[in-house]
Amino acid sequence: MKRQLTVAIVGTGFLARTRARCWRKVHGTDVTLVVAARDCDDPAAFAREHGAHRATSIDAALADPGVDLVDLCVPNHVHAPLCLRAAAASKHVLCTKPLTAFWGQGLPSGASAAEVAATDRATMLRAAVADAQAMVDACAAAGVQLFYGENWIFAPAVQRAAALGAAAPGVVLEMRGWESHSGSHASYARDWRHAGGGALLRLGAHPIGTMLWLKRREGQRRRGTPVRVVAVTGEVADLSRAAAGAACEVASGWGDVENWGTCVLHFDDGTRGVAYGSDNLLGGMQSHLSIHASDHRLECALSPMDALRAYAVREGAFGQEYLMEKLAGQAGWTTPMPDEDWSSGHQGLAQSVADHLAAGTRSDVDGELGLEVVRVIYSAYVSAAEGRRVLVSG
Ligand SMILES: NC(=O)c1ccc[n+]([C@@H]2O[C@H](COP(=O)([O-])OP(=O)(O)OC[C@H]3O[C@@H](n4cnc5c(N)ncnc54)[C@H](O)[C@@H]3O)[C@@H](O)[C@H]2O)c1
Repeated sequence: MKRQLTVAIVGTGFLARTRARCWRKVHGTDVTLVVAARDCDDPAAFAREHGAHRATSIDAALADPGVDLVDLCVPNHVHAPLCLRAAAASKHVLCTKPLTAFWGQGLPSGASAAEVAATDRATMLRAAVADAQAMVDACAAAGVQLFYGENWIFAPAVQRAAALGAAAPGVVLEMRGWESHSGSHASYARDWRHAGGGALLRLGAHPIGTMLWLKRREGQRRRGTPVRVVAVTGEVADLSRAAAGAACEVASGWGDVENWGTCVLHFDDGTRGVAYGSDNLLGGMQSHLSIHASDHRLECALSPMDALRAYAVREGAFGQEYLMEKLAGQAGWTTPMPDEDWSSGHQGLAQSVADHLAAGTRSDVDGELGLEVVRVIYSAYVSAAEGRRVLVSG
């Protein structure tokens, strides 16, 4: 008999739409989809348009004993409070990246957006890590799973690369990964008070989380303990500001967060990772991970991928058809994505969560991994602010 799973998607924005598509396609488990959102989000309309079975308020979903899992598709500053409430209500939690962030915790109530953004980075690091730890602890105490929603890890390219790497005797010496596009669509992403950081956090979290996961597994395999990050070197900037007054097709008008960020990860086995995120790239979303091992090399092209290439003379040649995330037009050569939910790993993520819950097994893409990502990224913010390499202590 198929396992039954009732998932409450919280929020009705970009990620909620992606997750609704993916949960509907999960196999082996009958998923009942509930959308839980504030009245201003009109959850009933979302349920009708995106195939959810019913709509409700967030409070009602948390109080509903029939809900097994809450899928948090809300801005970063809401992740921790809702996760704590969900754990207290004995719900499993799927929390997207980043697990949490610094959005003013510990500042006097009424602190201005400028005061939040001006907080020194070491204080941010301590607060964000404490928040993430509280999420991990609350879920552990409640006996529920905290799944970390890092979709990259479930991208077919990354899953296959992980399997090939596990079969090869060599050591991963260097990884390079980036997610870049022409700028976030979300208004909350522009200020520290809601996003808790800029491109390094919002986009860089993907390659960083994936590198940490791969090195964790490699360490377990080779020496019985995970390989961990011991130091980071970070750099952040607002690049679009340099285009003031010039032709500029990338997002501009940023608030107090960076739109370009990079960091070097120093692993405890002496190897390195280089990750970056940028909101300054035209031509569609680029999500790529290069793995340079001592006896092989792997290139994971999540986006674009060239399974399908198209050429069109005219703009609008394919009518209203969607081609790929953040691509502005249809003219010239393009790479229409055959199935972006699949290639980005969102579909595999939903499937993995359902499978673990059905089997009663624990995922290693968990709150602990999300916590490490938070620690690494905020340590990189400290590094960028202080102009030095920063040790990462767990
Ligand atoms: N690849 C990915 O994994 C991926 C992609 C996009 C976004 N995200 C993450 O998803 C989260 C949401 O991003 P999005 O792009 O969907 O944003 P969005 O702005 O499109 O949607 C956010 C939703 O949350 C609701 N919301 C806002 N504040 C709330 C509050 N205080 N309480 C309850 N609901 C609230 C909004 O009304 C909206 O329905 C962010 O954490 C972001 O980092 C992840």
